[in-house]
Amino acid sequence: MEHEPIEHVKDPESITYWEEYYRANPHPFNPSAFAMEMAKRMGTAGPVIELGCGNGRDAVFLGAQSKGPVVAIDQCEEETRRLNAEHGNKNLQFVAGDFSRYTPTTAPRYIYSRWTMHAVDEVTEDRTLDWVAAALVPGGEFMVEARSIRDDLYGKGESLGGHAFFTDHYRRFMDPERFAQKLRNRGLEIISLVESRGLAVHKQDDPMIVRVLARKP
Ligand SMILES: C[S@@+](CC[C@H](N)C(=O)[O-])C[C@H]1O[C@@H](n2cnc3c(N)ncnc32)[C@H](O)[C@@H]1O
Repeated sequence: MEHEPIEHVKDPESITYWEEYYRANPHPFNPSAFAMEMAKRMGTAGPVIELGCGNGRDAVFLGAQSKGPVVAIDQCEEETRRLNAEHGNKNLQFVAGDFSRYTPTTAPRYIYSRWTMHAVDEVTEDRTLDWVAAALVPGGEFMVEARSIRDDLYGKGESLGGHAFFTDHYRRFMDPERFAQKLRNRGLEIISLVESRGLAVHKQDDPMIVRVLARKP
């Protein structure tokens, strides 16, 4: 898929934190439980866009299954360059830039976001939702997983208002109903809205997670 270059994220603190994180954890490890679940819905259909792919753990998995194209965006230039060199192919491309400023050249069937809506401020979220709702093909789906406002990490660190807190990095916890309403306001239908533990267990950590699945009519 051809791309217009995407503008870079304007928050150097966020870029530095995640660049350093992926320098220490560069390789895609097992795909997330969310990716495995969503992959069953996607089958081989595409195009698929991933917002905030990090070290590519889910994009590489989805790219191996989909007939594509799969485009995975992240602000971390160094990591996307490495992922393209090691895992990119004509079906799977990693793109550096701000996912909230992306303009797809082909209407996506699936837009996938794991733990990225809670990584951005509300202005960035809203700008993302605007293009996501406009760009999906009719029948296309938006798949989102994020930490809930009822997660145990809520309230830890410096309060920034609006459910956002800063520890060693920024997190803005998701109010499920409010997020779902934003999607409805943009013309998407909610297929499912789940808030639960047990969905993203990692070692001792069992966060309270929101999963939202929405469809463009
Ligand atoms: C919590 S990590 C999640 C990574 C991956 N989705 C996963 O589940 O392992 C958040 C990711 O979003 C990326 N990110 C945050 N804001 C972004 C933005 N505006 N544009 C592109 N990437 C962004 C970060 O660089 C980081 O890789």
